[in-house]
Amino acid sequence: MAGLTDDQIKLVKANWAAVKPIKETAADLFYDKLFELDPKIRELFSEDISIQKKALMATISFAVATLNHPDKLVPAVQDLGKRHGKYGVTSAHYGTVAQALLWTLEQGLGEAWSPEAKTAWTEVYGILSSTMIDSAAEEAA
Ligand code: HEM
Repeated sequence: MAGLTDDQIKLVKANWAAVKPIKETAADLFYDKLFELDPKIRELFSEDISIQKKALMATISFAVATLNHPDKLVPAVQDLGKRHGKYGVTSAHYGTVAQALLWTLEQGLGEAWSPEAKTAWTEVYGILSSTMIDSAAEEAA
């Protein structure tokens, strides 16, 4: 993936493998944090977010697995971005999700969380979110 080194990809994959066994807990932590950071975001989601929790974790798994295959990853993320535009998600929301995601990874990884991990995940999220935002903007134009 453009902008990521091989070492960063390895690190992100190792981090995600460590979070996967506790993914339900991680998803709970993530959404609690997200809605604490911006309670209005809750209104964008349906009342029952249990399916949403699974969908988010599955998508992060797919993204992490395909980091070395942008030909697979980019079109899927573009479609995801277009759908998010229809959900009422704005570019500002992506910053709040970034904060909640990094915080969740830090909680989930404990000692395995490091400045290098933070940089690598910030890079990964930045690529995903900018792809989503650009494609939602194109769709709206
Ligand atoms: C890398 C970033 C993100 C990923 C991987 C992601 C992933 C997903 C997935 C897989 C779905 C299921 C529906 C679908 O596939 O269209 C979904 C739905 C949704 N996402 Fe995201 N999302 C991201 C960012 C955001 C942001 C920034 C927001 C805004 C706060 C957001 C709000 C929503 C909402 C409101 C839904 C619809 C839920 C419902 O219908 O109840 N997402 N997201």
